[in-house]
Amino acid sequence: MADDASDILEALIGGDSLSAPEYEALLVGRETLQARAAEAANELRLRYFGNKIYIRGLIEFTNYCRNDCMYCGIRRSNPNVERYRLTSEQIYECCEFGYGLGFRTFVLQGGEDGWFNDDRLVEIVSEIKSRYPDCAVTLSVGERSRESYSRLRSAGADRYLLRHETANDWHYSQLHPSGQRLSSRLRCLKDLKELGFQTGCGFMVGSPYQTLGHLAEDLTFIRSFCPAMVGLGPFIPHCDTPFRDLPCGDIELTLFLLSLVRLTLPKVLLPATTALATLDPKGRIRGILSGANVVMPNLSPFDIRKKYLLYNNKAGTGTESAEGIRQLSEELGSIGCEIVVDRGDALT
Ligand code: 5AD
Repeated sequence: MADDASDILEALIGGDSLSAPEYEALLVGRETLQARAAEAANELRLRYFGNKIYIRGLIEFTNYCRNDCMYCGIRRSNPNVERYRLTSEQIYECCEFGYGLGFRTFVLQGGEDGWFNDDRLVEIVSEIKSRYPDCAVTLSVGERSRESYSRLRSAGADRYLLRHETANDWHYSQLHPSGQRLSSRLRCLKDLKELGFQTGCGFMVGSPYQTLGHLAEDLTFIRSFCPAMVGLGPFIPHCDTPFRDLPCGDIELTLFLLSLVRLTLPKVLLPATTALATLDPKGRIRGILSGANVVMPNLSPFDIRKKYLLYNNKAGTGTESAEGIRQLSEELGSIGCEIVVDRGDALT
């Protein structure tokens, strides 16, 4: 094991795989390593993706949720949420609008809503795939049975996002009620991958009770699971959750983690998330310069966006929205990047 943090970073850049204590040493030494990590991560992004940034149209189609995650604004026990479900037609309209703007991936994200059973979701996925055969469909609808995932995959869903949230059992139990288990989350991720989904995991930075040791475990988990996508953004408190008074995740640490993920999995699809853009108006650009290569503007109908608040002050207009795509293009142009009209599949 290399002992000096900058030697460890150079080993990672050189392609070595790191242990959890080595990742932790990098996190501890972040301040002096961040610029070098970002530079190397950005280089990798350019090597594999050139100046191309992939866009995904995010459709938040239901905010009903059976789960009660302590951090999440749409948790079951929050009575102050005005619950909604989009109709199938509304979902197709979002796709049509997005297609016209150049989106070739639609991400259907929602709470774990029993109304959207397999039959209903299968029909929606099949319909989108038949209307837009040149588009990818990503699902982000939480934990389901292997059988359910298999049906969704057969219906044509290409990708699935399911953040693992934390790879540490104890930490997981601090973030979720006792009925929700890390082991079942990991079972889902394994099933999704085996069924041939391009699978994404991920976690929040600065979630309550998180230590640098936990983040190091997240990184070794990501290295061994080898997902096609990794979603990571800062924790931001929501006023109607038990974590309402806790501080936001650190922006610099989030950027450093983006770089470490890029260095660990050079070809990974890595979004600069809305949560990052919410805390920092330059979050998207800074995320990309730290190694991210994907952005996910909001394609949901305008009037429901304020009802899908996982955290407070969520960015949903300007460059965070599909309508803001031109502004986003300009912003990306300022760092020499461009949006591509492309499904943006995982590299093999
Ligand atoms: N702050 C930041 N991210 C959050 N998420 C949920 N609640 C919050 C919050 N308060 C993230 C979780 C989830 C994803 C859809 O959004 O990681 O998996």
